[in-house]
Parts: sequence; structure tokens; C-alpha cells
Amino acid sequence: MSQARQQLAEQLAEAVFQALYDDLSRQERVLLVVSGGSTPVPFFKALAGKSLPWERVDVTLADERWVDEQSSDSNAKLVREHLLQSEAAAATFIPLTSRATTPEEGVDEVAKQTESLTWPASVVILGMGGDGHTASLFPDSPELTLALATEEPLVAVRTPSQPQPRITFSADRLHQARRHILHITGDDKRAVLAKALNGDDVRQLPIRAFLTCPLAIYWAP
Ligand code: 6PG
Repeated sequence: MSQARQQLAEQLAEAVFQALYDDLSRQERVLLVVSGGSTPVPFFKALAGKSLPWERVDVTLADERWVDEQSSDSNAKLVREHLLQSEAAAATFIPLTSRATTPEEGVDEVAKQTESLTWPASVVILGMGGDGHTASLFPDSPELTLALATEEPLVAVRTPSQPQPRITFSADRLHQARRHILHITGDDKRAVLAKALNGDDVRQLPIRAFLTCPLAIYWAP
């Protein structure tokens, strides 16, 4: 882990801590929406050590791969192992999973599990892939149009470029959050972001759906 990436993770953790702290002074419970993938791990570790009334914090994911929770591909496993530790072990985590075999069968149950959360979320932290996807809004997914347009909270997604089916919060539900942050590292993602900022076709680079939120960008080489 480079020093710049570590510093980025710590600065992001401080900003998220401050946002949750501010919202907790005005409301009983707050909701934090995080992303999976590899980038967030040092951020999760930094945030987990912050002193907050974590018992009043709910945590969920922007999207999930439809795999067993013990699988190394599970975003829930990632959150449990790296974020729900130390001080943050007192938070309530609501995973985007159910016992159903497919996300299409499980989506209604997951919607029920997440509807009682304190929406709008205080903060949504997004990641981005090299293809411009964010959450599970993939350019090559047949469900992209639906996920960008629906007022339903969650969409089951199948994407040729990905090995597993997925479930994702819709763009509409993610848009409703009070604060949006993009956490990315490396020159490749900087180039993708530059391309995204240089055009409007959301279907080509779905991260564009969040460029007007406003979106705070946390990037390091
Ligand atoms: C996931 C995500 C996804 C992720 C990007 C970036 O489950 O894969 O939530 O949208 O944020 O793919 O992933 P990396 O951090 O691994 O590059």
C-alpha cells in the first residue's frame, strides 16, 4: 500500500466520520452505504477505529455479488472483516443477501430488509471499474436501463463481463443520499474519470450518472 493511498484512506475516513457525526447530532439513526471491491479496505480499517456512537449507525452496500457469504467474492464478507471491527463492531450491518438461489428471486426480500433503514443515506461511497461501472451499473448489462431509470430501490443484474449475478441499489436510490463520494486509485481510473467528465452518455460510462450529485472525488496515484 503506497503512502498516498493510505493517506487518502485516512482522509476519506475522517470525512465520513465527520458526516456521520453531524447527522447523528440531528437524527437518532444514520445510514452509511459502502462499496465492495479491493479499493475500500484501507478506508474501512481507518473508519473502523473512529469513535462514534456506532450502535446508532446502519451500514449497507451499494451492490453485492450473488455468492455465498463465505466466498472471497462476497462484499458482505469484506465489510465484516474490515469495517465491522474495533469501534465499528457495534454498527448494524444489513447485507444485500437472501437464501434465494438467484438475485431475481431474492430481490424483493432484500428490498424488505433494507426498506426500514434510515433513508436518505448520510453518505454513499462509490467505487469505479475500468469500464466506468459503479455499484453494479455496468455498461454491458441488459438491466442497465432499468437500474438507471427505476424508482424501485434494488435491481437484479446479469452482466456478461462479470462471473456472478449481482444485486445493486438503483441509481435513483443512490442519488437520494445526502453526500456522494467516489473513492478511486491509480492512473487507469484517473483516465476513465477524465473520459467520463468529458462526455454525457451515461450508458457508455455509468459513473456519469453521479457526476452531477455533486460528487466528491477521493483519488490517489
Ligand atoms: C463491486 C463493487 C464495484 C467496485 C468497482 C471497483 O462489488 O465490485 O461495489 O462497483 O466498487 O468494481 O472495484 P475495485 O475497488 O476492486 O477496483
